[in-house]
Amino acid sequence: MEFGDKPFEFKRTNILIQTERLLLRPISLSDAKVIFKTFTSSVARHMTPKPAQNISETEEFIRNAINAFEEGRDIQLVIEKASEFLGLIGLHSRKGHKTPEIGLWLKEEAWGFGYGYESVLAIIDWARNNIYLDEFVYPVDKKNERSKRIPLRLGAKLISEYKGQRGWAEDLEIEEYRFR
Ligand SMILES: CC(C)(COP(=O)(O)OP(=O)(O)OC[C@H]1O[C@@H](n2cnc3c(N)ncnc32)[C@H](O)[C@@H]1OP(=O)(O)O)[C@@H](O)C(=O)NCCC(=O)NCCS
Repeated sequence: MEFGDKPFEFKRTNILIQTERLLLRPISLSDAKVIFKTFTSSVARHMTPKPAQNISETEEFIRNAINAFEEGRDIQLVIEKASEFLGLIGLHSRKGHKTPEIGLWLKEEAWGFGYGYESVLAIIDWARNNIYLDEFVYPVDKKNERSKRIPLRLGAKLISEYKGQRGWAEDLEIEEYRFR
């Protein structure tokens, strides 16, 4: 996973976002075990990062995420429901410091309950109040119908299409959606 190099302009407070059912909170090293266990090949099927081969890779990812957060280049949050780990959601500055890129995944047992949409709504609401931004970017594999519905429901427009490296088997075909 690559982090951006262009810091967002935002207040570095402890981020805790409460929604109707979920809590979004900063990632920490103590999440390594559950992330290693739940970020499977099936979850990563339409994503660029590959599942970690061993837990030290997951720990390295978390350390990099914390470092990127401290430098304001990335915001990586754990999605929890009643203290149960459901997945991760992030805002990445790869596309520029005013165009946060949204990325998320949920463990397989948590798919299809609206948690993905609820998490995206929560993080964009937080970002609109805390980051100077022009628009959000939502890149998604063409075949990832479930994920694609999220930006479409938010009125996003398809801006560009490009080949991306699939983490697992074949190349991804990325559709890049943008919305304000
Ligand atoms: C993509 C993901 C985050 C979506 O979260 P989710 O909680 O499962 O999705 P939601 O329940 O919020 O549903 C999102 C939309 O997909 C629809 N949907 C649900 N199950 C679906 C299915 N099997 N096929 C197609 N659409 C489906 C929902 O109806 C909803 O659309 P709507 O708002 O128009 O009704 C989650 O499935 C996931 O983690 N997948 C694996 C990792 C991944 O692909 N991440 C995204 C990378 S861009």
